[in-house]
Amino acid sequence: MKAMVIEEFGSSVQPFLKEVPRPVALDNEVLIKVAYAGVNPVDGKIKAGYLTGAIPHEFPLILGWDAAGTVAEVGKNVKNFKVGDEVFAYVRKPILQWGAYAEYVAFDAQNVAKKPRGISFAQAAALPLVSLTAWQSLFDAAHLKKGETVLIHAASGGVGSMAVQFAKNAGAQVITTASRKKHDYVKKLGADLLIDYQKEDFADRLPRSVDVVFDTVGGETFQKSLACLKKGGRIVSILQRDLTEAEQKGIEAHYVFVSPSGPELHTIAQLIEQKKVVPPHIEEMDLREAGAALNKLQAGQVLGKIVLKI
Ligand SMILES: NC(=O)c1ccc[n+]([C@@H]2O[C@H](COP(=O)([O-])OP(=O)(O)OC[C@H]3O[C@@H](n4cnc5c(N)ncnc54)[C@H](OP(=O)(O)O)[C@@H]3O)[C@@H](O)[C@H]2O)c1
Repeated sequence: MKAMVIEEFGSSVQPFLKEVPRPVALDNEVLIKVAYAGVNPVDGKIKAGYLTGAIPHEFPLILGWDAAGTVAEVGKNVKNFKVGDEVFAYVRKPILQWGAYAEYVAFDAQNVAKKPRGISFAQAAALPLVSLTAWQSLFDAAHLKKGETVLIHAASGGVGSMAVQFAKNAGAQVITTASRKKHDYVKKLGADLLIDYQKEDFADRLPRSVDVVFDTVGGETFQKSLACLKKGGRIVSILQRDLTEAEQKGIEAHYVFVSPSGPELHTIAQLIEQKKVVPPHIEEMDLREAGAALNKLQAGQVLGKIVLKI
């Protein structure tokens, strides 16, 4: 099969098209014929070699952790899927090697879900990683509740696009940061208040104002966000691993690294079918343009998500 691979790490390394063996579905797996692969910032971080200390790897390494497509093979223990089912999944494996920028990817069937009806494969490929990240951060970690106020940073990004909608659907008041040019998009997703972080200091605007902060930026944004929390507030970050400062201030703080989850993807798919949330804005590119897609994402030139047509 054809796949976009790297054979060395480096920020300037470009993925290239290579003929590699087609994977087979192991006993508990399904083989997905990938229609579209989602592009995420982490793909660029893997390419640059930033995850080498955290996850083992083998070259040639196929990038990509998001897939939408059709089941082509089922392992002998798999009961919940059959050949031809339309599915989507966050396909992170314990070893970095067999990713989604490829014609086929095999993955644990427990962590695959049926594609929501009424949306395209392209839209579905944009969803798994970012929607699971938003879900696990807001609900599994921060336990966001109806009536609470949440500050969601980088609301125009992939994770933010879904977090705004999940929080709104859960009955929270949603405050967001985003650059001015993306405010119309974020407003349509359901944000109650938008702050242009390039023009205004969100921390000055929101002293002790929110119950939950969802930090998708890290660094100074994480640190300044602590002052925005009411007494008893929670902060959850997907970038800030060192939570000492928050904990010293008596703030409940969490770092989330998103996990694959079929059941949570199924819940998210239902929300989409019920039109309670919509997929992020997507831009389609060709599989061969994976390198350009990663550069564009890193340059902050994307509204929502890029997906690669396989
Ligand atoms: N730990 C995990 O499991 C996990 C999971 C998913 C993602 N992540 C990480 O989380 C980050 C966001 O992911 P993503 O997929 O949403 O990325 P993305 O789609 O590239 O979006 C990032 C957004 O951040 C905005 N932004 C940049 N600087 C900002 C600032 N100072 N304040 C507010 N917004 C700012 C940009 O939009 P504007 O034009 O509005 O500036 C951009 O749209 C990435 O670093 C990613 O690697 C971690």
